[in-house]
Amino acid sequence: MSNASVLVLNGPNLNLLGTREPTIYGAETLADVERRCRDAAARLELQIDFRQSNAEHQLIDWLHESRTTVQGIVINPAAYTHTSVALADALAAIDKPVIEVHISNVHRREAFRHHSYVSALAEAVIIGCGTQGYELALERMATILKQKAKVQ
Ligand code: DQA
Repeated sequence: MSNASVLVLNGPNLNLLGTREPTIYGAETLADVERRCRDAAARLELQIDFRQSNAEHQLIDWLHESRTTVQGIVINPAAYTHTSVALADALAAIDKPVIEVHISNVHRREAFRHHSYVSALAEAVIIGCGTQGYELALERMATILKQKAKVQ
């Protein structure tokens, strides 16, 4: 059987990782995060499709496509976490496990970051683990997908 596929989706401004508010988000770039994810995926026998967009419609279009191409979704929706009913609706339309990741501990930050439209749709939420959160999410996703494959 071929490896399960996971979409790793990144929302707005995450392309600036490494230079954007490094005291909050750290020094790693998005390319570093992608490398980390690829290493973790190889170890976990997952295939990943790693993407970033600043555009809400692009993220939504990719989620629509993923309905037929992947088994799971790891998403850092960035600011759209707190604002986008449209993104949440796109996730709700997909019958696949979702893990939400935030690099920073949003609960220690401004009140407007405390609410997520995505969390209620997610199997798990990983917050405040820095960029390691992506690896933790992939590890958990591998477990979820293995368990699903067993019961099918
Ligand atoms: C973030 C937290 C969000 O509140 C913020 O808008 C981001 C990044 C995080 O990874 O910590 O852009 O999702």
